[in-house]
Amino acid sequence: MKTAKRIENLPPYLFAEIDRQIAEARQKGVDVISLGIGDPDRPTPDHVVERLCKEAHNPVHHRYPSYEGLLEFRAAVAGWYERRFGVHLDPRTEVVTLIGSKEGIAHISWCYVDPGDVNLVPDPGYPVYHTGTILAGGEVYRLPLRPERGFLPDLSAVPSEVARRAKLLFLNYPNNPTGAVATLQFFADVVAFARQYDLLVCHDAAYSEIGFDGYRAPSFLQVPGAKEVGIEFHSLSKTYNMTGWRLGWAAGQAEAIEALGRVKTNIDSGVFQAIQLAGVEALTGSQEHVQAMCNLYQERRDAVIGALRELGWPVTPPQAGIYVWAPVPAGYTSVSFAARVLEECGVVVTPGVGYGEGGEGFFRISLCVPKERIEEAFRRWRQRGIVFRG
Ligand SMILES: Cc1ncc(COP(=O)(O)O)c(C=O)c1O
Repeated sequence: MKTAKRIENLPPYLFAEIDRQIAEARQKGVDVISLGIGDPDRPTPDHVVERLCKEAHNPVHHRYPSYEGLLEFRAAVAGWYERRFGVHLDPRTEVVTLIGSKEGIAHISWCYVDPGDVNLVPDPGYPVYHTGTILAGGEVYRLPLRPERGFLPDLSAVPSEVARRAKLLFLNYPNNPTGAVATLQFFADVVAFARQYDLLVCHDAAYSEIGFDGYRAPSFLQVPGAKEVGIEFHSLSKTYNMTGWRLGWAAGQAEAIEALGRVKTNIDSGVFQAIQLAGVEALTGSQEHVQAMCNLYQERRDAVIGALRELGWPVTPPQAGIYVWAPVPAGYTSVSFAARVLEECGVVVTPGVGYGEGGEGFFRISLCVPKERIEEAFRRWRQRGIVFRG
């Protein structure tokens, strides 16, 4: 039977295709080093796992969870925002629990986008902003992120007739895939833009806790007025090495939080309560692990930047996140370069075009592998003569 138009234009999820290529290479006996997906390789902190084990034995949690999420979890989120950013949130109306932030990012378009409406989407960007828009029947207007602007979008370049039709503005800092960061001044300009055109800002802060050399990312919600025009998506995935647990939240404008909760009530039945309580443990317990994690990624970042520079690459070390974004050498597209590196070295990098047209000319390296494997990957590049020529 023919599939619906809504999914006809959906590309295969980038990482599903990369997984397939890795499996194929491994089957041929290649010792593949994947610098592809951003999936933390370190385990979830012990105290969080222990809390899950304890709660999993409680039959109260074996029943359906509440739709909007346990109040205890939402209160832990509000407490975390207060301590970390000085932002005050009402856990009852301004926080909703998500099955990982990806789920909320995909569903927010369902709340606001009718066929023909427009979302403003960073390019390159995390693919779900785009696909969520398409699934809701909306149109994507791409906001190019260019190195010369520090990978921040130029909102003044959005034609006013497009901005007037726009419903959502997606942003993400610290940024995947570019590693760029944003200032509070930039967020203040975003608030003014959202007010001018009456649109909802959806800021994705999945990487806010991973900073280097003392850098700490701000929250969009810190800017005066932000809570009236926007929401922030967040996740335990990267901060606490919990990608497999599927736990996140959205916080901010009460109307948007209610709308998202309403859509979710009709689609899913919430997150296993034992997992939410483990999330409470993560947010309220010892944060020692977070600094240790930043130190570990920083060491890996330095290994990647050092090796790339040695091979002639013009790269600046990112201040945050778990990725290095680098230009492909002259004569390659991002796909042909990634293919060469996989074929000749058994090393997976992600082609930039997978994050949108604006990612063409770049590739992404994830810092989710041990330093020794990073060094081994670049040893292979050196042996094969993979160097940068602009
Ligand atoms: C920018 C960004 N946002 C959101 C997510 C989704 O995270 P999760 O659904 O695990 O919370 C990711 C995952 O890689 C990401 O890179």
